[in-house]
Amino acid sequence: MIRYEEKNPTVDEFNYLTKKVGWGIRDKEVVKEALNNTIYSICVYDEQNIIGYGRIIGDKTIFLYIQDIMVIPEFQGKKIGTSIMENILKKVNELKIKNPNIRTYLGASEGKEKFYKKFGFITRKEAKLGEAMILK
Ligand SMILES: CC(C)(COP(=O)(O)OP(=O)(O)OC[C@H]1O[C@@H](n2cnc3c(N)ncnc32)[C@H](O)[C@@H]1OP(=O)(O)O)[C@@H](O)C(=O)NCCC(=O)NCCS
Repeated sequence: MIRYEEKNPTVDEFNYLTKKVGWGIRDKEVVKEALNNTIYSICVYDEQNIIGYGRIIGDKTIFLYIQDIMVIPEFQGKKIGTSIMENILKKVNELKIKNPNIRTYLGASEGKEKFYKKFGFITRKEAKLGEAMILK
């Protein structure tokens, strides 16, 4: 039985998921602070076990950033990622009521663009904006 909960995962749950999707784990204090600074979190459970997650970070008014969309490999391809995104976009739309011009970003990992295009995301190039950049 799959269920969705709008709450932060525990630090151990977050590290479990990032490890399962191949992103490794982080220092527990770092994860704790990151989760505390999160605007919105959606967790997915199969019975008592976390199997998926997604979150929104940002300033709630001008910029939002969708981050850490994860479904563990055993549950991928079952539309759980889609449901995570639908919950996240519902929250984005709620925030848009107060601030209609809010801009929502995400950084698709290589090869994951198709997944996000389904929800209306376009590349910065398609939006005729400059390339996204990252500090190395
Ligand atoms: C990307 C991810 C969240 C998708 O979750 P999921 O539950 O497997 O996806 P869904 O079953 O909801 O798939 C929805 C659609 O996206 C497409 N899709 C799913 N995973 C994809 C991938 N890795 N690459 C391209 N398209 C993908 C599917 O083909 C599906 O299309 P369809 O509706 O035409 O069948 C999941 O594969 C994952 O956690 N991957 C590892 C972590 C990661 O890379 N996260 C994204 C960071 S940007």
